[in-house]
Amino acid sequence: MTLVAGVDSSTQSCKVVVRDAETGRLVREGRASHPEGTEVDPAAWEAALRTAIEEAGGLADVAAVAVGGQQHGMVCLDSDGEVVRPALLWNDTRSAQAATDLTAELGGGQAWADAVGLVPVASFTVTKLRWLAEHEPENADRTAAVCLPHDWLTWRLAGGRRGGSEGGQQSLDGLVTDRGDASGTGYWSPFTGDYRTDLLERAFGGRAPVLPRVLGPAERAGAVSAGAVAADGGAVLGPGTGDNAAAALGINAEPGDVVLSIGTSGVVSTVSTTPSADPTGTVAGFADATGNFLPLVVTLNAARVLDATARLLGVDHDELSRLALTAPAGSGGLVLVPYLEGERTPDKPHATGALHGLTLSTADPAHLARAAVEGLLCGLADGLEAIAAQGNPVRRVLLVGGGARSEAVRRLAPAVLGVPVLVPPPGEYVADGAARQAAWVLAGGDAPPVWPATSTQTYQADPVPFVRERYAEVREMTADRV
Ligand code: XUL
Repeated sequence: MTLVAGVDSSTQSCKVVVRDAETGRLVREGRASHPEGTEVDPAAWEAALRTAIEEAGGLADVAAVAVGGQQHGMVCLDSDGEVVRPALLWNDTRSAQAATDLTAELGGGQAWADAVGLVPVASFTVTKLRWLAEHEPENADRTAAVCLPHDWLTWRLAGGRRGGSEGGQQSLDGLVTDRGDASGTGYWSPFTGDYRTDLLERAFGGRAPVLPRVLGPAERAGAVSAGAVAADGGAVLGPGTGDNAAAALGINAEPGDVVLSIGTSGVVSTVSTTPSADPTGTVAGFADATGNFLPLVVTLNAARVLDATARLLGVDHDELSRLALTAPAGSGGLVLVPYLEGERTPDKPHATGALHGLTLSTADPAHLARAAVEGLLCGLADGLEAIAAQGNPVRRVLLVGGGARSEAVRRLAPAVLGVPVLVPPPGEYVADGAARQAAWVLAGGDAPPVWPATSTQTYQADPVPFVRERYAEVREMTADRV
């Protein structure tokens, strides 16, 4: 049996799955936590990856590995390959002003959408580089290369560290990435497949750091170096990709499939055969991990809205779900607009959450629980609408992520979204997608190996359009105050 491993280095933790390359059967797995915060020393990801690999039984018998990782995080390296400062993550909003400035400098959203398929928001790497150039110019000056979390971990697995002459260790020129993750930087064009170094230099005060080479979907990125991160070396390295592209590969999403993922972020994405250019910036025109495209909408507030509401009510998640299902649709007019961490879609990085419609009859735990679940789903329904408005067909909607474990979320989703929802079993779809990529790199060919389709459970409900209408009224009242 040939084994492959997939890594999901996500915001909260690192997961490793080891699967049979031919059948996709899960053989072993491991995980380790990441530190909290929106600014993280990449060394913590490496330590977590090491622990997760060990827990998954090591890589001695594994033929290929690929890394999926949280998108957009800014990892700056100096000319010795050392990390310049802690990485700023996708959910760090300090570069909001930089996003506004960069958008204006190029003449607005249309120009950015035409150039790179995106309109800058604080999440994207390009805005973080502008922030660094303005706020920490000495760190910007020391930055010899910029890469993303999955690029850095892939490089570390390959033994990347210092100048190329040292004991065979890879230099900065050894940094690689893939189309999927490159497309989230804001300085790579999904239309031409090339970097827009002019935009990078514009953002970074004229500096031109080394960028990772963009590999094809099944191109080899070298091999794991013994003792680098894993004890055992030799396994072939795949190019890896961003977590959303990896999840789409893991769930085997095909054109017309919309994946709704409720994790730390809420993500609505679909596989498309053509690139997107939404001048409003609602839909980000990413590339996927197979040579296609991945138009995607992200909300910053997703599973943690449920965590926060459960905490507020002093209940666990099962009780929160039970409570939500006892209140009526629309929660008697009580609306929770869940901008608990600011918001990215709509672009309101400084907004806060709002609760509106409190009356004597809605002021109870059940109504609040219902309003939280509906508020979370309304944000995702807006995303689905925006993806469809870009001309993407909606053939099937698949609901995944930690939030999909809530029965209330699963049962209310088809009502709020107005379409049936398919729920695959809980799984590590990002790590699975990375493992499938690793199997593809080994097998070669134009398409990833076919692994058995995931079973799904279908949820249907009568649509409740008034829930979204009422939510929209309250959403429009929320300001983006600094
Ligand atoms: C996508 C995005 C998030 C991160 C974190 O644009 O910012 O989904 O990839 O998982």
